[in-house]
Amino acid sequence: MKQITCIEDLREIARRKVPRAFFDYAEAGSYSEETLRANRADLEKIKLRQRVLVDVSTRNTSSIMAGEPVSLPLALAPVAMTGLEHGSGEILACRAAQTAGIPFTLSTLSICSIEDVSEAVDKPFWFQLYVMKDRSFVRSLVERAVAAKCSALVLTADLQVLGQRHIDIKNGLSVPPALKLRNLFDMITKPAWVYGVLSARRWTFGNLDGHVKGMDGVKSLAQWVGSQFDQTLSWKDVGWVRSIWPGKLIIKGILDVDDAKLAVKVGADAIVVSNHGGRQLDGAASSISMLPQIADAIGSEAEVLFDGGIRTGQDVFRALALGAKGCFIGRAYIFGLGAGGEAGVLKAIEIIRKELEVSMALTGVNQLSEIGRQNLVAHQGRFMEYGGILEADHNAIN
Ligand code: FNR
Ligand code: LAC
Repeated sequence: MKQITCIEDLREIARRKVPRAFFDYAEAGSYSEETLRANRADLEKIKLRQRVLVDVSTRNTSSIMAGEPVSLPLALAPVAMTGLEHGSGEILACRAAQTAGIPFTLSTLSICSIEDVSEAVDKPFWFQLYVMKDRSFVRSLVERAVAAKCSALVLTADLQVLGQRHIDIKNGLSVPPALKLRNLFDMITKPAWVYGVLSARRWTFGNLDGHVKGMDGVKSLAQWVGSQFDQTLSWKDVGWVRSIWPGKLIIKGILDVDDAKLAVKVGADAIVVSNHGGRQLDGAASSISMLPQIADAIGSEAEVLFDGGIRTGQDVFRALALGAKGCFIGRAYIFGLGAGGEAGVLKAIEIIRKELEVSMALTGVNQLSEIGRQNLVAHQGRFMEYGGILEADHNAIN
């Protein structure tokens, strides 16, 4: 089997092993995918500052995220329908994260339910909440997360309506998967995937099954989200969520300084600077281009986490240098899952860990707390030519 050395290798294997409709669902961005592309392009514009002849023998990647010790400043992001990228996918990914010593975040729209995952692992995980119109159901979801001893609630703020991924419509993506002839043929050519899904406990949204009306015969994810998600959601509702959730509250999908300040005001313990992996507002700025000013604005009052385009340890280094305390990965671990189940997710995490460790060595850094803008190369006082977002601090560099 081809030697796996990077996330792209895992993506290539997953592309062959996962049915087209579900691989495309994972990979796609919304509309013309401008923001999806910008997430990667803007990360790559940021150059690391090589330093030499520093004793780097005491490097350490451990940290704290949302009050929890982590072996690496990385968490697995919530990904809807992970259980259709690989049978029992949420359980496998959570196990891999817990083996690696990092948090796993279960999506509201997971296939394995909160209870399925809780029964299958022995440490707490994080739960990502979508607020739907049926508030009594939302309350019951939060109560189930409390009962499962989830240690953080990730409230997703950037999806009252679903961004359109053209390919999902063209693939006729539905949950459970509609066994259309075209899909059927594709699935038959992926026997390992079929075996994994058929031997799993569920094939549809495990958290919602039997609780939410209008689940059966879901024509399309977009149509169902449109009918169930609450478009009236506003900051006052975050106060309600805060009142029913006793643990750490992380607000995900912040891409603006004013929203970051509002998140602090409502009592968020942490925020995730995120544009949903370029899957929601197309034309929005890249996550990395908004990180520094948000971190400067609220980094002393709440923990700033980051996601959007992370595919390497070098990307994690860049985000830490620009003010993030930790990062989430979405596609990077989903590719690992599709490529090789639990072992594939673990491989993805270990690839990023090693890349971060080497990047620390070659920039002369031993502790994550040392990493800052001084470890980046600035050109004409800017880290990237992007809408004037970022002004390097000359004193920090010279
Ligand atoms: C997501 N994301 C997401 N976010 C969320 O809050 N709840 C969810 O259910 C999902 N579902 C989902 C499905 C798929 C297939 C993807 C790729 C992403 C967004 C995710 O948590 C994260 O913000 C992005 O994936 C980060 O970007 P990268 O790491 O994928 O580039
Ligand atoms: C997505 C939503 C469901 O990104 O979070 O597909």
